[in-house]
Amino acid sequence: MINKFIRQNNMKTFEQEIKQGQRFEFGKNWQSFLSSLTDERIKIAENSIKEMLQVAHLKGKRVLDIGSGSGLFSLAARNLGAKVHSFDYDPASVACTKMLRSRYFPGDPNWIVEKGSVLDGDFLSSVGSFDLIYSWGVLHHTGNMWAAIENAASLAKKNNTLFIAIYNNQDGRSRLWTKIKKFYCSGLLGRAITSTIFIPYFFSKTLISSVIRSRNEFAAYKKNRGMSIMHDWFDWLGGYPFEVATVEEIFNFLHPKGFELKNIRNTNHSGTNQFVFVKESD
Ligand SMILES: C[S@@+](CC[C@H](N)C(=O)[O-])C[C@H]1O[C@@H](n2cnc3c(N)ncnc32)[C@H](O)[C@@H]1O
Repeated sequence: MINKFIRQNNMKTFEQEIKQGQRFEFGKNWQSFLSSLTDERIKIAENSIKEMLQVAHLKGKRVLDIGSGSGLFSLAARNLGAKVHSFDYDPASVACTKMLRSRYFPGDPNWIVEKGSVLDGDFLSSVGSFDLIYSWGVLHHTGNMWAAIENAASLAKKNNTLFIAIYNNQDGRSRLWTKIKKFYCSGLLGRAITSTIFIPYFFSKTLISSVIRSRNEFAAYKKNRGMSIMHDWFDWLGGYPFEVATVEEIFNFLHPKGFELKNIRNTNHSGTNQFVFVKESD
């Protein structure tokens, strides 16, 4: 309780964090991503949810999308028949999600979009209860990953599902990337230097891999949850705050809280480990 009070009162505003170079402007990147959104990408996003949850639809389910970003996965969940509640800490991400709602579900009472933080206990206690708590690639970008995981998990009641994706811990490599991302967010110079070095590097790597595999890896990337390779390069390069965890750490944190692991897609590289847990006991 005291910890929660201290955490809330230490919270800086989004604008302060940006000004002090402590946060990537995810929402701006998502605004640019939305111009490349197609029906095909939306379908791929829907399939990514169905495959991990091993379901055909989400009819009759209440879904909370924590850190909705572009809003694509809120839209996918809504298309699959769920009642959706989306929130994000970045006002530009909130605007993206609202834009998708007004484009695809204008005036829909079954899709709420608002600004909020998963680290804000008072806000979370106002959102209600959900069959599926979805937070993909978010909790490690909050600045307090374990508190964020704890808060997201605390929303799950018996039989509710928690679907999270958390960056894999690669020890020294992860520590190096934390420094690069921090430098990117530090200001104009940081952005210019890191982009000048890494964007051509990412581009060349993808080009070489396209040649080796004889397929266009730039275009094929969309098979990855409907994402766009260029926007994901910037999301990766600038994505700060940045924390990581091993599969074991996540499991050891959630299992004692009554969560059983139902599905996992893990990596040995620098991407995310994806987990589907169901809360089976208190
Ligand atoms: C990498 S994006 C992921 C977006 C989306 N979930 C997806 O899968 O495409 C991370 C998002 O988390 C949001 N975020 C960061 N800290 C947050 C917090 N404390 N509460 C809610 N959202 C947060 C960012 O603003 C950003 O939109």
